[in-house]
Amino acid sequence: MWPVFFSFASMAKKVLFVCLGNICRSPMAHGLLRAEIERRGLDIEVDSCGTSNFHSGEAPDSRARAKMKEKGISINDLRSRPLSIPDYREFDHILVMDTENFNNAKSLAPDAKSASKVKLFLDYTGVKGASVPDPYYGSEDGFEHVYHMLREATNGFLNSI
Ligand code: 4NP
Repeated sequence: MWPVFFSFASMAKKVLFVCLGNICRSPMAHGLLRAEIERRGLDIEVDSCGTSNFHSGEAPDSRARAKMKEKGISINDLRSRPLSIPDYREFDHILVMDTENFNNAKSLAPDAKSASKVKLFLDYTGVKGASVPDPYYGSEDGFEHVYHMLREATNGFLNSI
């Protein structure tokens, strides 16, 4: 009985970030959380995906990679993939970048327990209901702005769990 209990208790938490293309916002969040987990010595697994398959198999956008590199974090190893139904069972926290993708991720959830795992990532900054703006069609400044929002939410999330 006890060994079973302890093996469950020591299982790593799993976090999944979700945006639309999985080449800008969610890979940046993935890289930030992964770096902060490493820095704090935590046992948490991280992944990211998109609600679309528009960029499936692609590396993060070059502007996202450059911004993260400027901040000392490499996300070159990440590859875009779409959100799938098994993700809802596998992950403990499904953290979404904006309200449109939040609504899509919620409505795809196979059951109520899965749906309850889906949260807006910026809720961890204390500002409820806010979205990380999509920087894909914007300027370089957008990526800097997104980076700071994601960093604040990353710290808020880690301090909350
Ligand atoms: P992301 O940004 O959702 O932050 O990865 C986007 C990337 C690609 C597209 C839209 C948003 N797209 O339409 O191709």
